[in-house]
Amino acid sequence: MTKILFVCLGNICRSPLAEGIAKYYISKNNLDIIVDSAGTSSFHIGENPCPHSVQIAQNKGIDISQLTARQVKQKDFSEFDLIIGLDKSNITNLKIMGCKNVKLLGDFGLDGEDIPDPYFFDGFDGFEKVFDMIEVGVINIINSTK
Ligand code: 4NP
Repeated sequence: MTKILFVCLGNICRSPLAEGIAKYYISKNNLDIIVDSAGTSSFHIGENPCPHSVQIAQNKGIDISQLTARQVKQKDFSEFDLIIGLDKSNITNLKIMGCKNVKLLGDFGLDGEDIPDPYFFDGFDGFEKVFDMIEVGVINIINSTK
C-alpha cells in the first residue's frame, strides 16, 4: 500500500488541502493509498486548518475542518513512500532535516511551479487558485501510483 505525505511550512493552509483532496479522490475511486500531511515548522502544532482553506474545501464538498497540524518527524522519512513538498522552500527544509527522497508537487503537471503560500494573502482571493493547483498535482500523483 502506498503512503503519501504532503508537507508545507505551517500545515494549516496548503498541505491540509492536499490531504483533504487526496483522501476525497482516493475514497471516490476506492484506492488503497494512505495520506497524511505535516509542516516543517512547529508554529501551528495542534491547530485546525486556516478558515479560508476550510471554506474553499467546503465549497468543493470536502471537509478538512477536523484535521490538526503536526510537525514532520524523522520517522516520516522511512514510513512514507512519497514525500511531497508544496514549494521549493519546503523541499530545502526537508532536505536539511535529512529527508532524501522528496518531490515537488508542482512537478506533477504544474510545470514545476510552487504552490504559493496563501497564509499571507489578503482575504479569500487566491485560495481558489491554490485549491485548483493542488488538485491538479494531487490527482496526477495518485494516478502515477496506479
Ligand atoms: P502553510 O501556510 O505552510 O500553507 O500552512 C503557512 C501558515 C503559517 C505560516 C506560514 C505559512 N506562519 O508563518 O505562521
